[in-house]
Amino acid sequence: MKYTWTLSFCSVALTTSLVAAPAAEEALLARLPEIFAKSAAHYKALDAAAAPLAISEKEVGKGWDKSKALMPHGFNRKTRQLDMRTIFWWTAGHFPGSLWYLYEATGDEFFKTRAKAWTETLAPNAKVTSNHDIGFIMYCSYGNAKRLLKTDEYDALITSTADSLCKRFKPELGLIRSWGMLDETKDFLVIPDNMMNLELLEEAAKIPGGEKRFADVARSHATKTMAHHFRADGGTYHVLNYDQRPGFHGAVQEIRRGQGLSCETAWSRGQAWAIYGYTMMYREAKDPAYLAFAEKVTDFALNHPNMPIDGVPYWDFGAPGEERDTSAAAIIASGLLELSKYVKSPDKAAKYRAFAVKQLTALASPEYFSEGDEIGHWLLKHGVGHKPGGSEVDTPLDYGDYYFLEALLRLKKE
Ligand code: GLY
Repeated sequence: MKYTWTLSFCSVALTTSLVAAPAAEEALLARLPEIFAKSAAHYKALDAAAAPLAISEKEVGKGWDKSKALMPHGFNRKTRQLDMRTIFWWTAGHFPGSLWYLYEATGDEFFKTRAKAWTETLAPNAKVTSNHDIGFIMYCSYGNAKRLLKTDEYDALITSTADSLCKRFKPELGLIRSWGMLDETKDFLVIPDNMMNLELLEEAAKIPGGEKRFADVARSHATKTMAHHFRADGGTYHVLNYDQRPGFHGAVQEIRRGQGLSCETAWSRGQAWAIYGYTMMYREAKDPAYLAFAEKVTDFALNHPNMPIDGVPYWDFGAPGEERDTSAAAIIASGLLELSKYVKSPDKAAKYRAFAVKQLTALASPEYFSEGDEIGHWLLKHGVGHKPGGSEVDTPLDYGDYYFLEALLRLKKE
């Protein structure tokens, strides 16, 4: 149904693949109520298990310090315990964000109440200047709260977070420092994940009375990253170390493997952040360079010879046969559903949308979607956090669930 307009532009050769797409999409759309109902049941169980653990044992009875609160993050498959982490951990906004998406998907007031309660534990992040992740943390949580509750109650916190994030911006380089302290002079480390923090800056600039400099910083960072962080084929490096000495004007002094397999391959989640990040930046800035770049980094991933047939990538594009990363698939699917609305070529739009549908159909299958408490009620199995660091390999990841739910909602809304 949605592709009728597309077919009139297509050559006969393309028609076969495009005809298949609407049927797959209709089938997935028909399953949405069931997928959201199962997800809601999982997250009710997660919330019940996590709530008593939200304050660390050490704090109980001490008139507890709010900055010591904990947030559900993942699942330890050996001990079968819920993995609770500090509210300053980079993923702390994703669990409340998923609760907000479940509220949006089901209308169940339980999710509104719980999403609000978990979101509000994150307030101390607004003043943090020691990492770039506060954009993620505060936008997935408070950003969704603002959108769904249609409230300005959180504007001051969002603005304060944007101000803190901008303290990591170095105008001489035009970049936000991803890792490292503000006074670090030797290294200036940037990762493509940082693209995801820019949405909070764009939103903060739009708050009535909001500062234009927030959007200026976001656009400067996106443009500089576009110039340096990718190979000619559109594949991403993970960590770039820029030279910040006066006179060196941000030359790249070192490339690091980071969470990827090597400096020559593309780490799948880094590529996913780039696809999503440049699509989002095109939405906000309407700069055609961002759109063209979003297509370039997308085409690298979708046309890669090591992309599996179900669209769930190996954890690194250079690691065929190793673990898949469901989080990368979910981020790409959500990004593609948005990008398909902006690309000028109807064929490309149809291809991107069909790819996202294929990924989401796979993620919603028993191969990837959990049953009962097999992974402590998180939704998606088989995520990879940091394989070279030996951490979180073949495990559920809170951000995988978040972008999976976001993508399903994007599919439903259109
Ligand atoms: N930002 C860290 C990651 O994607 O693992």
